[in-house]
Amino acid sequence: MIKPPEYVQAIRPYIPGKPVEELERELGIREAVKLASNENPLGPSRLALEAIEKNISKLNRYPDGGGYYLKESLSKRLGLSQDHFILGNGSNELLDIAVRTFMTPSDSAVMAEPSFVVYPLSVQSIGAEAIKIPLREYRHDLPSMADAIRENTKIVFVANPNNPTGTINRKDEFESFMDKVPEGVLVIVDEAYYEYVEDPDYPDTMRYLKEGREILILRTFSKAYGLAGLRIGYGISLPGIITEMNKLREPFNTNSLAQAAARASLDDVEHIRRSVEINRKGKEYLYSQFSRLGIDYVPTEANFVYIKGLEQPDAISLYQGLLKRGVIVRPMGKDSIRVTIGLPEENELFISALEKELRGSG
Ligand SMILES: Cc1ncc(COP(=O)(O)O)c(C=O)c1O
Repeated sequence: MIKPPEYVQAIRPYIPGKPVEELERELGIREAVKLASNENPLGPSRLALEAIEKNISKLNRYPDGGGYYLKESLSKRLGLSQDHFILGNGSNELLDIAVRTFMTPSDSAVMAEPSFVVYPLSVQSIGAEAIKIPLREYRHDLPSMADAIRENTKIVFVANPNNPTGTINRKDEFESFMDKVPEGVLVIVDEAYYEYVEDPDYPDTMRYLKEGREILILRTFSKAYGLAGLRIGYGISLPGIITEMNKLREPFNTNSLAQAAARASLDDVEHIRRSVEINRKGKEYLYSQFSRLGIDYVPTEANFVYIKGLEQPDAISLYQGLLKRGVIVRPMGKDSIRVTIGLPEENELFISALEKELRGSG
């Protein structure tokens, strides 16, 4: 039978979680709580839903391939001309487009480990090399990442905040890192959780763009905007970089409902404020409960928390135990799990299930 190239055979496929409905059926439970994919538990903005309804009867038409109106809204909001923006079928697609645009199989890309799993997948999909630099104290080790850049390195990925740890790299260290990155290397700063960040020392990456640096900032409507199911995200970069990426973008990569909903969502400042606020309160609640239960965690700047140092039960047994109690989290190796911050009642259900699992009670 036909075989893909060796570098494709070597890829370990991304295993998506089962749909909640399927898990409920399998486990014989009802109303499972999904805290596994860092989604907004409040759902989409009302304005987004109205925009979808308004546009639904036009589904016989192709979308506006360039996403003119959404880019216009982004351009006004961020004070940059439209040629600085590219839209993607989720920011995920933009990662892939950037890799295909700027890398050949003989190139390498530098990234942190653990970080967002799609970075190495994208790089390996074209047969290029992923250079993985371990996190330091759960954060990107930016000095070591800069040192790891080789002659053939084309891209450095920085997830800020990082998934799965929720940590950020602050202004000063980001500045020193940018000073060390040579010309001809694209820094992709993935700001999927940007809206949730509270730390005042979070880097202002737009500044580097305005200085003409080779940086691609990725943001998404999947998280704080609550539109994960529609698949829409955007990239901000120098017009020259956007022009090159557009050559490899499918002509109609983002759909019309996603464009309309995303544009409407941008106007719903109150929905974002509420989403961020509910996340902040949920975070405080989880922290206080973790302290009560003696659970070790990494303080987060995103909408999920990384629980570490699990021994008895280990992460996999805890994940399975929580699942049977109707709470879906994400195991991360043997001793850590990642849990999305949900609605107050979801967080309480999680804590109650967690407490039972830790005590080993049925
Ligand atoms: C760090 C990071 N980047 C990018 C994405 C992709 O988001 P989307 O493709 O939904 O925009 C995710 C999703 O979980 C993420 O955690």
